[in-house]
Amino acid sequence: MKTLPFWAVVPAAGIGSRMRADRPKQYLQLAGRTILEHSLHCLLDHPGLQGLVVSLATDDPYWPDLACSKDSRIQRADGGRERADSVLNALLRLEALGAAAGDWVLVHDAARPNLARSDLDRLLDELADDPVGGLLAVPARDTLKRVGADGRVVETVDRSLIWQAYTPQMFRLGPLRAALAGALAAGATVTDEASAMEWAGQSPRLVEGRSDNLKVTRPEDLQWLAQRWHDQGRD
Ligand code: CTP
Ligand code: MG
Repeated sequence: MKTLPFWAVVPAAGIGSRMRADRPKQYLQLAGRTILEHSLHCLLDHPGLQGLVVSLATDDPYWPDLACSKDSRIQRADGGRERADSVLNALLRLEALGAAAGDWVLVHDAARPNLARSDLDRLLDELADDPVGGLLAVPARDTLKRVGADGRVVETVDRSLIWQAYTPQMFRLGPLRAALAGALAAGATVTDEASAMEWAGQSPRLVEGRSDNLKVTRPEDLQWLAQRWHDQGRD
């Protein structure tokens, strides 16, 4: 099988407020390395990677201390107010590095340290010829309720139609840049790349991924992952 070339963007300019730690969550330790290093690792290990841009807060004091800050395949961009601003800045950096409008870009959260190589390969494989692109996603597992303003159930939602959006999300550079810039200019709420593409009238494809590719959001997420890696002998 031919290796599909791709670029990667890792937005890492958030402050991790829900984690309530003494530093942004991407710089917390997991099995001897920072969460950010684990999140970068799976992408850096892939032979298809052409280059990677990490978006960092302009006053980030932690990045220069990481060994991977010296990796010549990694460039940095300035983070912005929202995740979408951070990603857009990174895409502009990719263009300056010579990436073409039709090139594939994978955007992966800095706070998702448990991306499996098998998930990355399935995403690349299933979307290689897709006209739009798409994302890793996981089917909802709980029974879902729609609530009213009074906190009471309005109805039970058909679970088979609801999926959780994960990362990486994979789109072509030109269309993704245009969608993000357009959505931001219009003041639309875009919490991931797919929602920007949807705003632009496209239908991203879902590729089922592993549920353990979770985003570390709250303290218990990190505890869960640390225990799991310990049980697997990964620490
Ligand atoms: N992110 C970013 N720039 C921002 C906001 C978020 O690059 N202005 C990044 C985060 O660093 C993270 C990813 O986007 O890797 C997903 O965001 P989220 O999980 O919400 O992280 P935080 O915004 O840092 O956390 P919180 O919402 O709890 O403050
Ligand atoms: Mg956030």
